[in-house]
Amino acid sequence: MTEQPSSDPSVRARPVAGGPPVVGVVGGGQLARMLAPAAARLAVPLRPLVRDHDESVARVHPDVVIGAADARGLRALAAACDVLTVEHELVDLDTLRALEAEGLPVRPSADTLEIAVDKVRQREVLAAAGVPVAPWRLVASLEEAEPFADAHGWPLVAKAPRGGYDGRGVWFVDDAGQLAEVLAEVAGPVLLEPALPIERELAVLVARRPAGEQVVYPPVETVQVDGICHEVLLPGHLTDAQDRRAREIGALVADTVDSVGILAVELFVVDGDVVLNELAARPHNAGHVTIEASITSQFENHLRAVLDLPLGDPAPRVGSAAMVNVLGVDDLDPRTRLADALGHPGASVHLYDKGPRPGRKLGHVTATGEGLTAAREHARRAADALAGGPRRSEQEATT
Ligand SMILES: Nc1ncnc2c1ncn2[C@@H]1O[C@H](COP(=O)(O)OP(=O)(O)OP(=O)(O)O)[C@@H](O)[C@H]1O
Ligand SMILES: [Mg+2]
Repeated sequence: MTEQPSSDPSVRARPVAGGPPVVGVVGGGQLARMLAPAAARLAVPLRPLVRDHDESVARVHPDVVIGAADARGLRALAAACDVLTVEHELVDLDTLRALEAEGLPVRPSADTLEIAVDKVRQREVLAAAGVPVAPWRLVASLEEAEPFADAHGWPLVAKAPRGGYDGRGVWFVDDAGQLAEVLAEVAGPVLLEPALPIERELAVLVARRPAGEQVVYPPVETVQVDGICHEVLLPGHLTDAQDRRAREIGALVADTVDSVGILAVELFVVDGDVVLNELAARPHNAGHVTIEASITSQFENHLRAVLDLPLGDPAPRVGSAAMVNVLGVDDLDPRTRLADALGHPGASVHLYDKGPRPGRKLGHVTATGEGLTAAREHARRAADALAGGPRRSEQEATT
């Protein structure tokens, strides 16, 4: 176990001569946890940076560095790995840049992460590269918002440029009064968009190596409820043209931000056209379905890419697949309901061993098969069992 930050951060622990490079991962949540089996299969040494031994990955993977994603923690991780990657973007970028300058491969790079962490930068950089982006404006006051509201009408969608996840940091605002509340809460400029008439939400994952070689996963459809991803469907309900366009945009975004590892590009279908929502430079909830459904999972391809190894085939190995998130509804550990869930033998259950809390992503279930409707039903039943019963409202999108 590598627990102590090195007293001399410039001394980097090297694996035994000829040994395989150690992949350091910033973050200890379920994404790091799901990297571990892929790493184990390839005998790639994985060393996550976690706050404590209770974090999801630390419960299955003893070889961790303890620390925060700050200068001290990152330096401790850097001293104990040969290539550094991330499972979340809230990382001290100045330290990452310093580590890059000192010769540590940081994949994705600090430049890529700087774009991924900021919804405004994403739009600026990607629109300039020709990626279709919905109208937007950064506003710091009601006066600045007025022309945008006049042009697009209420309601509008306001977003915190940084730090949002699972719909936190995204607000539908009906009028100037509500926008004023959001501006006060964010205490800084917010990104405004029209409330788009979204027909479908998609995600396309791209695995990319340092020299630019990339593979693009088939686009999946993501079903969000209240800003949280509930389900992922493969294939999505897309036209051939939308499918092609989503892949094209994914590839263009990956090249533009020069990603290394998995890049997830979230997209909307609006008026039949595919437009950017946001991106994440790491494995993504929309890609969990690839564990069972694809020849190479997003987690394995992330490792291959950050180690600059040949990428695996992203093609599906099944006709269709559905993934349903297990979201906490109460304080009961979903393991107490495991027997009920496993009573659905076609469903693959993944639990993250995280403390139960209403709304928290505690696990997911995937089912595969020839028909999407049946796969979705199987996955839902097992996920519902884990969550303690059907939890979807009547209004939930049923695509
Ligand atoms: N302009 C918009 N119009 C309508 N709905 C929107 C708009 N922008 C975002 N949404 C809805 O809010 C959800 C969350 O938005 P976004 O992806 O920006 O937030 P996030 O919290 O950063 O996401 P994540 O959960 O992926 O981290 C979207 O998936 C979509 O359902
Ligand atoms: Mg999102």
